[in-house]
Amino acid sequence: MDQITLTEHEDDTRPGTPDLRTVDCDPDFWYPVAWSHELKAGKTLATRYAGQPIALVRPTEGAVFALEDRCAHRQVPLSKGTVKGQSVQCCYHGWAYGRSGRCIDVPYLGKGKLPNGVRTYPCREEGGLIFVFPGDPALADSVPMPRLAHVGDPEYRTRQFGPRVACHYTFMHENLMDMNHQFLHRRQMGQIRARFLGQDRGENFVEARYSFARTDTHQPLAEALIFGRHRDLKGKEQPVEEVVTVRTEYPYQRLWIVDKDGDLMMDLWVAYVPQSADQRTSRAFGLLSVRRPKIPFLIDLIWPALAVFTNRIFEEDREVVELEQLAWDAQGGDRNREVFPVVNHLRALLTRCGRPGRNART
Ligand code: FES
Ligand SMILES: [Fe+2]
Repeated sequence: MDQITLTEHEDDTRPGTPDLRTVDCDPDFWYPVAWSHELKAGKTLATRYAGQPIALVRPTEGAVFALEDRCAHRQVPLSKGTVKGQSVQCCYHGWAYGRSGRCIDVPYLGKGKLPNGVRTYPCREEGGLIFVFPGDPALADSVPMPRLAHVGDPEYRTRQFGPRVACHYTFMHENLMDMNHQFLHRRQMGQIRARFLGQDRGENFVEARYSFARTDTHQPLAEALIFGRHRDLKGKEQPVEEVVTVRTEYPYQRLWIVDKDGDLMMDLWVAYVPQSADQRTSRAFGLLSVRRPKIPFLIDLIWPALAVFTNRIFEEDREVVELEQLAWDAQGGDRNREVFPVVNHLRALLTRCGRPGRNART
């Protein structure tokens, strides 16, 4: 396998290190490509992974399956076709394909003369998401599915979010990992400063831990619910004792917050799935689990405010990572001056675990 290996200092500024924005995601993992609710029974859905068009098919009975979204006859998308039992029938001349991708019927040909079929992708459905394995199908069974925040856990309520972002997936990993960008969110969160507590790294992960110090007294309600109240009822400042951990465990990312008693208050899982072949556009699939407070209905009461709050934060992040991508495009390469070691470790991880892209350059 042609993986890139960085052994020595893991410094992405060394000559000979590939430009990270030309490194492709390793396809030998399970990637979400749609939400379960987007694909109704008896219907198809067009989706993609890194420029590969994929048709998801949900028969009225049985599991979802995933085929190359191109009819073997004239390459018309199969997602425009019709579901018939355990097969999908192309909309043009009616060729039909089973879940293995094999062509099982050409209405105007004898059964003995059927042509070859289309590519099939290993496919699974879990936690309200449909996953495919875009890499070597022989590896699919040996690669574990990710743990999806706290979906289905009655002690948590989980919110789904899935925006499309016009940037390379690596900018998204860096954005969440580098909590020193809270300045960007000052209008949503007030004046808050991240304090770096420490880091860990291993073969397939980089982790950073932070606490937050508030430098003004204004704390929005939704933020108080996620990060904990930092004032008592009389408005007196309380010390911030929650620890925020961000971890990229290739290829996924997770952020979780533990309170001073060690209880998990919030758990975010996210995957950034390349959309275009050059991987400079992505779709995020995120699951945000928030622990239900002692008064259970409180969470339902504040849930809409929480949605608005997290959407606004994400909008700010989206805008800024897209600007980073535009700068990369305009300059034709990465001219970053990174000063935070965690980000350099993260870059080394993403380079080491990724694949040289079609435009690979150093
Ligand atoms: S293009 Fe699909 S059947 Fe002809
Ligand atoms: Fe952010």
